[in-house]
Amino acid sequence: MRKSAILITGANGEMGHGLIGALHQKNNVNIVALDLNPLDGSISALVNEELMGNILDQSLIEQLNGEYEFDTIYHLAAILSTRAEFSPQSAHDVNVGGTLNLLNLALEQGRSQGRSVKFFFPSSIAVYGFSGLDEKNSSGAIKEDSFRNPSTIYGCNKLYCEHLGNYYTNNYQRLGAELHHRYIDFRSIRFPGIISSKTIPAGGTSDYIPEMLHAAAKGKSYKCFVREDTQIPFMTMPDAIQAITHLMSAPKDNISRTVYNIRSFSPTAEEFRQKVLEHYPKAQIDYEISEKRQKMVDSWPADTDDSMAKNDWNWAPAFNLDLGMKDYLIPDLQQMYKN
Ligand SMILES: NC(=O)c1ccc[n+]([C@@H]2O[C@H](COP(=O)([O-])OP(=O)(O)OC[C@H]3O[C@@H](n4cnc5c(N)ncnc54)[C@H](O)[C@@H]3O)[C@@H](O)[C@H]2O)c1
Repeated sequence: MRKSAILITGANGEMGHGLIGALHQKNNVNIVALDLNPLDGSISALVNEELMGNILDQSLIEQLNGEYEFDTIYHLAAILSTRAEFSPQSAHDVNVGGTLNLLNLALEQGRSQGRSVKFFFPSSIAVYGFSGLDEKNSSGAIKEDSFRNPSTIYGCNKLYCEHLGNYYTNNYQRLGAELHHRYIDFRSIRFPGIISSKTIPAGGTSDYIPEMLHAAAKGKSYKCFVREDTQIPFMTMPDAIQAITHLMSAPKDNISRTVYNIRSFSPTAEEFRQKVLEHYPKAQIDYEISEKRQKMVDSWPADTDDSMAKNDWNWAPAFNLDLGMKDYLIPDLQQMYKN
């Protein structure tokens, strides 16, 4: 008999760390964790099954389908934005091909279980794109359905996968006597940059904010790779995780769309630098611009409009920038780096 479980791909990543911690606290959840790399010790004890493997490996996907009955799939595995620009073909293979494999797994599961399987997909503000800084600066907080003109391969991958999620949700359904039955219940959040106290990002383009903070906490100097006036939205990892669990547990009838914006605060690089200096007055933070990465963040919105998420599933971040620093980031960082 197949074992009931939930599946998390990319489980050893930054978001995986937070999500595994949160889901582990729920009773009766068997977590199957998949990643290219072994899980860190801090999270491997919290999962029921740990699989090291590639989401592009069809035999692994078949093995998962044969052994488990998944009611929810959290598909986090991806190649992030900066890394993706260095290898667009691999980014497409993993970010699109891998997502297709997971959607097909969800579809098989939905068909064999005769019910809909929930599918979480973390999208990104990289799906948006502006013709230039003037358009970015004059557009304000943007809504889900505007400016979807990504200029990075990562943004293209994410936007297409959002559409794939819609396609699978709407095309694969059984018409019952009374109920319209979908095999996949695809739900997605377009995340801003995320700041975690526990992990340091790698390969993303919003990394300058968490990198700046972690460097200061470690007593190391840091060169910020974007201009001081650069502005995109951010949030803390606990808020990102509570958003996922909130959206995934929201009643179907409340969900009016498959993809939602969320955001918490939107500082410029210099405003964040000043905030770091309030807590670490001796921090050495300079600017050394990477033209390539600057161009990427310049194409992303200064802020997004999250009113749909507020309206449909009561999205509300617990932390603004001040509270996030004071009550979450600084205490954890002091503990982690012992200073
Ligand atoms: N962190 C952010 O600021 C942010 C913002 C927006 C969206 N997202 C999205 O959230 C998700 C998780 O992000 P994260 O910050 O945890 O990223 P991360 O890079 O920390 O983690 C990604 C994980 O996926 C794994 N992985 C990559 N390719 C794989 C493959 N072929 N097979 C199996 N595992 C593979 C990696 O080993 C890694 O552990 C990603 O889809 C990312 O695009 C993140």
